[in-house]
Amino acid sequence: MRVIIKPDYQSVCRWSAEYIAAKINNQKHLVLGLPTGSTPLGVYAELIKKVKKGEISFKDVITFNMDEYVGLTPQDPQSYHYFMNENFFNHIDIKKENIHILDGMSNDFNKECENYETMIKASGGIDLFLGGLGEDGHIAFNEPFSSLSSRTRIKTLTTDTIKVNSRFFDNDISRVPSQALTVGIATIMDAKEVIIMASSHKKAPAVYHAVEGYISHKWPVSALQNHPHCIIVCDEEAASRLEAETIQYFKDIEAKML
Ligand code: GLP
Repeated sequence: MRVIIKPDYQSVCRWSAEYIAAKINNQKHLVLGLPTGSTPLGVYAELIKKVKKGEISFKDVITFNMDEYVGLTPQDPQSYHYFMNENFFNHIDIKKENIHILDGMSNDFNKECENYETMIKASGGIDLFLGGLGEDGHIAFNEPFSSLSSRTRIKTLTTDTIKVNSRFFDNDISRVPSQALTVGIATIMDAKEVIIMASSHKKAPAVYHAVEGYISHKWPVSALQNHPHCIIVCDEEAASRLEAETIQYFKDIEAKML
């Protein structure tokens, strides 16, 4: 695992965008896994700037989003379809047919989820999965105690996640769907590389469990300790629960890699 500690949110986003841009330019037909949430917004803004400046193109990039709420149409402003179009896809040169997002309106969720796994495999597998981090250590919508070998499936959301995400629903928890379709932990583990971004002191316990805790389904992000190419990029606030020695170790390693 690499842990990259940046001074603030903006530098986390700039670093992640640079990393993704370099991948896009080095590999034809890159397959990207993408998240929603507040954290990736800055990365999407940076990538849009790069597309506009002609530094990168998404012409040959294939994307698979991590998750989608059950029962929201793509036109619903709270759906992840809408979020992705508004904040990213409408502003870049990606081909519509290369965008994949789970259908939360499907009338057969099991089939929808199985097809998603099949499509990921058919695309050659995910080269780089970018993810955010829930305060309780969830990745995508793999809530605490999700099976660490889970695949794409329907998941019931915890009250904590519903409360945290209600900020996108006018703080009305009754409007937040109680279920979502999500890629599984094993789906994320299959990606050739995984980058998890974390910002603010609210994420500090989850970053602690990701880096220094035991591998446990209680903190699903900790499963990534078994991933051969996982990078956690976080700001100083999010790293604030790590031991001073751990921080020193990762800063020292990164300085040598420059
Ligand atoms: C949601 C998403 C996750 C995301 C998490 C954290 O629950 N399903 O993929 O990582 O929120 O979001 P934020 O970046 O807004 O803190």
